[in-house]
Amino acid sequence: MQRRPRSGYGRTSWLAALAIGAGISIASATAADGPATIAVHVDKPGTAIPPDFMGFMTEEINHAYDGGLYAELIQNRTFQDPGNAPGGLPVHWSVVGQGKASTDAIEPVNSALPVSLRLDLSGGEAGVANDGYWGVPVRPDTPYSATFYARGSGGFAGPVTVSLLTDDGKTVASAQSQPVTGDWRKHTIALKTGPDAPTTAKARFVLSAKGSGRVSFSYVSLFPPTYQNAPNGLRPDLMKLMAEMRPKFIRLPGGNYLEGGRFADRFRWKEMVGPPDQRPGHMGCWGYRSSDGFGLPEFLLWCKQLGAEPVLGVFAGYVLNGDYVKAGTPEMDVFTQEALEEIEYVMGPADSQWGARRSADGFPEPFALKYVEIGNEDWFDKSGSYDGRFTQIARAIRARYPQLKLIASAPVTSFKPDLYDDHFYRSARQLMGMATMYDPTTADSPKLSFAGGGFNGRQRDTAIKTFVGEWATQEGRPTPTLNAGLADAAFIMGMEKNSDAVVMECYAPLLVNVNPADPGKGYPKGWQWNTNLIGYDALHSFGSPSYHAQVMLAQNKGDVVLPTEFTAPTSSPSAEASRGGIGLGSWHTDVEYTDLSVTAPDGRVLMAPDQTGEWRSSGGPWNSRGRVVAPARKDAETWAFTGDPGWTDYTIRVKARKNAGREGFIVIWHAVGEDEYRWWNIGGWGNTEARCEAANSLGGRDPYGPSAPFRVEAGRWYDLRLEVAGRRVRGYIDDKLVTDVTSEPSAASIAAFTTATYDKADRTVIVKFVNAGASPLDARVELRGVSRVEPEGTALVISGEPGAVNSVDEPLKVAPRREAVSGASTSFVRTFPAHSLTVLRLKATAP
Ligand code: AHR
Repeated sequence: MQRRPRSGYGRTSWLAALAIGAGISIASATAADGPATIAVHVDKPGTAIPPDFMGFMTEEINHAYDGGLYAELIQNRTFQDPGNAPGGLPVHWSVVGQGKASTDAIEPVNSALPVSLRLDLSGGEAGVANDGYWGVPVRPDTPYSATFYARGSGGFAGPVTVSLLTDDGKTVASAQSQPVTGDWRKHTIALKTGPDAPTTAKARFVLSAKGSGRVSFSYVSLFPPTYQNAPNGLRPDLMKLMAEMRPKFIRLPGGNYLEGGRFADRFRWKEMVGPPDQRPGHMGCWGYRSSDGFGLPEFLLWCKQLGAEPVLGVFAGYVLNGDYVKAGTPEMDVFTQEALEEIEYVMGPADSQWGARRSADGFPEPFALKYVEIGNEDWFDKSGSYDGRFTQIARAIRARYPQLKLIASAPVTSFKPDLYDDHFYRSARQLMGMATMYDPTTADSPKLSFAGGGFNGRQRDTAIKTFVGEWATQEGRPTPTLNAGLADAAFIMGMEKNSDAVVMECYAPLLVNVNPADPGKGYPKGWQWNTNLIGYDALHSFGSPSYHAQVMLAQNKGDVVLPTEFTAPTSSPSAEASRGGIGLGSWHTDVEYTDLSVTAPDGRVLMAPDQTGEWRSSGGPWNSRGRVVAPARKDAETWAFTGDPGWTDYTIRVKARKNAGREGFIVIWHAVGEDEYRWWNIGGWGNTEARCEAANSLGGRDPYGPSAPFRVEAGRWYDLRLEVAGRRVRGYIDDKLVTDVTSEPSAASIAAFTTATYDKADRTVIVKFVNAGASPLDARVELRGVSRVEPEGTALVISGEPGAVNSVDEPLKVAPRREAVSGASTSFVRTFPAHSLTVLRLKATAP
C-alpha cells in the first residue's frame, strides 16, 4: 500500500508559477537600513560538528536498487512478474525466432526460484530476449558476465548461445555455453563487446538455441563491470557520485520499504542473505517486485565501499496497511528476536551464529554499528501500540548491546530513546523558513512538538538528540530544481548550526531511475516519488542541483560552528499591500469556517454568506460544503484565497470552530498572491496569541503590531470580525476588540541565509551563504576576532535560473564553479549572485 504524499502539497497552477523564484522565506536575517553584513565571530567557536553528521537514507523506491545501484541488467530474472496477457510470457521477456516459450513450475532449481522459462524449439534457431530496465546498456570494449541455469529435454542437448543485440538486431557480443544436460546446471559465460560496438541504452539480452526439443532457463542474470569489481556488485557511476558526498552513514533499509504494505511483504532480512539465487524476492511497497539480489549483504557492501556505517532500521511490528501486533504477543517476540539476530549479522563476531552467515556472504569482519532505529514513521500507527513495541525491542537490544544508540520514530514514554527521527518533505519556501527551526528556544519561539507529519524531536532539555532521517524540498520532478537545492542547502546549514541537538541528517529519497513510461510496451515510468537527489537511466547518471549543493557543504563541513549575524536592508511595503482579496487558513489545526461575508465601508455587500467565490489554495486542498469551508487535511499548513485583488477597505465576518489541533484560526486580507498577504493569526504561536503577520513577495512572513494573549478553545463557534480601513486593522472576537493595528510592517528585502564553521587543520573560516533572491547581493563579510585574514581564498558558487534542473541530456547544466578570491581581509565586500549558494574558504589566524 502506498500512502502518499504526506507533504509537498498540491497548489493551483497560478500559485505554482508564483512559487518559483520568489517562494523562499527569509531566514535568520535581521532587518537594517544599511548594506547587508555577514558578521562571523571567529573567536567564539561553538558546537563541534558531529563526525557522523551527514549520511544517506535509502530504500527500494524509484528502482533505486533493481534498475539502479544494483548492477544487474536483467529485469524479472526469475520470471515471477507475470505478463500482461493471461498465459503470456513474463514481463520483459519475448521470443526471438521460431520457437514457443512458456513458464513452467515443474521441478524448479530450488524453492526460491519457483518459475522457469521453457523454450520449445521447432528445428530452427529460437531464443528468449530480455529488455532490461528500460533497455540493456551497451558500451564498446566492455566485458559482461552472464549467469543462468539451463536444462534440456525432448532430445535437446546442445549449447546455448548468449548474445547482446542492439535495437536494429545487430549482435554486439556473443558466446556459447557448454552443452546442456537433462539436469539443472549453472552456466557462467563471459561476453565482451568489440571496439566498434555502439553506445546505447536500448540493447536486449538473448539466450538462444538451435534444433529440436526444449531448453528451460532459470535465474538469468547479466552483470557489467561493477564498482571495485565486487561480485553481485554496484554500479560504478552511481558509486562515484555518492562518494563525492562523503556520507558517514546509510540509513537502511528504509523507509516504507522496511515496513512493507502487508506483514507478508515486510523487510524479511533472513530471506535477503546468502547466494542471490537462493533469495525468493518479494513485493516491495512502491508498486514493483524486488529481486532482493540487493539484500542485507549488499547494503553492507555499499557501506564498506563508501566508508560509511549502517544505521540499521529494524522491523517493529507495524505495516503500511495499518496492521500491527502488540507488545508481549508471540509475534512481537519473533520480531524482537529477529532484530537481535539482524544486529548480530551486522556486528557479531564471525564465530557467532549470524556473524558466521555474514562471513559466508563475504564479510568476515564485523561492521561497526552505533545506531539502530526501531520502526519507521510509527506516528502513523494511531493505535498507540508503538510505545510498547518500541520498548520491547529497545529493552532487548539494550540488554544485549548496551553500547548501541536507539532511535525512536515517534514519541515514546516507557523507554527513553537516544534519538528521535524527524521527517520533513516541504516546499522551498517552507524548508528555507525551517532553517532556524532547531535554534535554541527563546521566549518568543514556542517549543515545538509535532511538525507537519514529522515528529519534531528537539529535546534539548532531556538530552534526547534529533536525527532528521528524511527531508527534502519537493520542487522539481523527478529531480529537484536549483530553487529547491538552495532551500535544501539552507536547511542543512541550519541543522549543522544546531548540530549539538541535530546530530545526524539524511536527504530522501536518494536515487531515481528517470526513465519515462513506455506505453507502447506497457511499461510504467521508473519513479514513484516526485523529487529525488540523483537521477539515471541505464547508461547515464547525474546529480541534481541539490546534489551539488550538498556536495559543496559536505566537502566544506568544518569542525566547529562559528556564530554569525546577518543584517539586511529593509524595504517598505509594496503599493499592492493596500489592496487585495481575502482568505482563511489553518496551521496544523482541524478547523472549519462558515457564513463568510465581506462588506465595503459604505455597506455594499462584496461577498454574501451564501455566495461561494472561487477559492485557490496553497499548502493543501480545501473543501467547501454549503456555507462551510475547511482544509481537507487536518495537519497541514494551508490557506485558501478568494475575493477580488482590487478590493481595498472592507470588513470580513466569519464564524470559526476548531475541532482539534495545535493552534486556532487565520483570517487573511490584502492578498495579492500566494506569497503576498496579511493575516490575523488567532491562537498562533502554539495557541497563545492573536497578532498580525505580513508576508511579502520574497516569501518571508513577519509578525507586526501588538500581540494579545489569546487561546482558542476546541468545540465552540467564534464570531470573527476584521475591519480593514487603510493602515488601520481592527480584529474582534465575539464582538470584543482583540487586535488594533495602525503600524506597517517592514521586511528584510533579501531571501538569504548564512552560517559559518571553522576547519581547524586548515585554519580556515568557511562562510556559507544562500542568496535565494532574484537580485545579486553585495554584502560586507566581517571576520571578527581574528588578527589576520589571508587575502587569497576560494569560493565555490552554484547559481542559475531558479527553475533549472539537470538531466541525462544536460547533466551539468547547474553545477558549482570554483573561483579565486583575492583581496579578502577582516572586512571586505563580496557580491553573492542571484539564486546562489556560495561557500567561501578564508584562511584566518586567531589573535
Ligand atoms: O522517502 C520516501 C518515503 O517517505 C519513505 O519511505 C517514508 O519513510 C516516508 O514517508
